[in-house]
Amino acid sequence: MEVGPRGVRYYDLFMDVISLGYYPFLIKKVVDKMDIQPGESILDLGSGTGRNDCFIAQKIGPEGKVLGLDISKEMLSLSRKRCRPYPNVSFTEERIEAPLTYQDEFDRVFISFVLHGFEDHQKIKIISNAYQALKPGGVFCIFDYNEFDLGKLWFPLRQAFIRGECQLALEFLKLDLKGMLSKQGFTGLEEELFLKGHLRLLKAAKWQCC
Ligand SMILES: C[S@@+](CC[C@H](N)C(=O)[O-])C[C@H]1O[C@@H](n2cnc3c(N)ncnc32)[C@H](O)[C@@H]1O
Repeated sequence: MEVGPRGVRYYDLFMDVISLGYYPFLIKKVVDKMDIQPGESILDLGSGTGRNDCFIAQKIGPEGKVLGLDISKEMLSLSRKRCRPYPNVSFTEERIEAPLTYQDEFDRVFISFVLHGFEDHQKIKIISNAYQALKPGGVFCIFDYNEFDLGKLWFPLRQAFIRGECQLALEFLKLDLKGMLSKQGFTGLEEELFLKGHLRLLKAAKWQCC
């Protein structure tokens, strides 16, 4: 689910327009609900334009760090420019479903509106990368579509979803993501719902011995 160069330039604007200006407030709320503490280290998978990482940077303060991974050179260039005021936020070009080398390093791994665009075997690889990258007791925070019945969605919204989203996103609405996370070793699942339950922040902890 790569975003082309034109899409990159207008990605934030597009999100603001389709959400009638609500998207930045929503992302701020989501970041608030992640319970990020000053000094934490955060890995952002598919970091996009870096807008979320600027909000996260304000939570972690100068002692923390954020590392964003993306495969789009245009997104990486935009996010680096946008996060320039935060020297502890950096970005690197990496494919998040490929084997990653990060091990027990991060307090939180964040993935926002990225996971639904992958095949199930790739999702499992991404979840396992997140598990490996987290410190014991660290939390994987997934912000994405919740499970819901598309047939019950208000007709114009349903049409917009079907026309605007990929087939994998349609399948994602039926996915037992909690089951997938549990199978990969995550525990203590918690969720926060947004927009009448159509969006969800799912938090899952890496197992920690006593
Ligand atoms: C829909 S955007 C979401 C961006 C950001 N997380 C947000 O919430 O605004 C998806 C992002 O994932 C990136 N992406 C897609 N496939 C990827 C992959 N295999 N590895 C790393 N990044 C990927 C895209 O380049 C894009 O920046």
